[in-house]
Amino acid sequence: EQNRRESLMIVSGFAAKFFHESLLHTDEGKSIGYSYFKERGFSNDTIKKFELGYSPDQWEAFTGEAIKQGYKEEFLVESGLSVKRDNGSLYDRYRGRVMFPIHSFTGRVIAFGGRTLKSDKNVPKYVNSPESEIYHKSNILYGLYFAKKAIRDEDNCYLVEGYADVISVHQAGIENVVASSGTSLTVEQIRLIGRLTKNITILYDGDAAGIKASLRGLDMILEEGLNVKVVLFPDGHDPDSYVQKFGTNAFKTHVDKNKKDFILYKTEILLKDVGNDPIKKAEIIREIVESIAKIPDSIKASVFLKECSNRLEIDERALLSELNKMRQAKA
Ligand code: UTP
Ligand code: MN
Ligand code: MN
Ligand code: MN
Ligand code: MN
Repeated sequence: EQNRRESLMIVSGFAAKFFHESLLHTDEGKSIGYSYFKERGFSNDTIKKFELGYSPDQWEAFTGEAIKQGYKEEFLVESGLSVKRDNGSLYDRYRGRVMFPIHSFTGRVIAFGGRTLKSDKNVPKYVNSPESEIYHKSNILYGLYFAKKAIRDEDNCYLVEGYADVISVHQAGIENVVASSGTSLTVEQIRLIGRLTKNITILYDGDAAGIKASLRGLDMILEEGLNVKVVLFPDGHDPDSYVQKFGTNAFKTHVDKNKKDFILYKTEILLKDVGNDPIKKAEIIREIVESIAKIPDSIKASVFLKECSNRLEIDERALLSELNKMRQAKA
């Protein structure tokens, strides 16, 4: 069992090296992959640090080399790097994609995300490693290995959606950043962060999907007893595009100016499509109190209840009785 895991990590490490070398030292990799990363504003240091790579646009470039070097088919298939055809032969899962290795907490490569360079809608934008003995998506955060020290030092963790967001924000000198990449945020991921800091700041994409995901994430984070703030980006932007377009200082200013605690955030999001309708306003208040009811620490909960009362101009006692009802319904 332990040997199998080690074998999977060794072959994944070999693959990361293969893709990285291919990016930096082959004609195809340089002209397609490397120039793509450069156009996205990734520096050479960043490319090295995150071990970014390129998978040749051929059926067996990686698999062939791996077999030649003695790696066993069993581990090539289990790691997801190679796929088995019906006739038993293997081919490369990743072809003609730029490669983002995913590292474990201790820095071993355990999986990959590969981004297409085509804008064809029928091609999936990212292909990710399947679940394996070393890669359980739900308890991995992309970038955590590179971020853990900064998360402790800053006593805060920025949570973004994607690989490129982690990389660009990190490159901008804000190193306490991780992504839940490829899955919606899980409780296990929140607990992983919770061992390093109790403070999470959500920086999701400024589109409808990002807003929806942020509201879900926020309730889960509160339920785990952590503090949460949210920063929205202008529609059409994500942290990567914003920091690459406007620069580090503008990014920091945006985050500072738009950082909202969950009550303010929820209020603003929900109030947008309400106007003066008192029934809808009541529904919003109920939704906010529902979030407050998730906070395990009752002193903290009452502080937020007061804030809610002030902000929405609702009698605090009414909110409290609603909160108690929800708590009883849950118990
Ligand atoms: P996005 O669609 O926001 O992509 O998905 P992105 O990270 O901004 O990618 P770029 O900037 O176009 O390169 C956010 C994350 O969701 C996962 C990836 O982890 C991605 O980074 N995802 C997205 C997938 O796993 N598969 C997909 O097809 C799309
Ligand atoms: Mn396991
Ligand atoms: Mn998005
Ligand atoms: Mn993006
Ligand atoms: Mn995005």
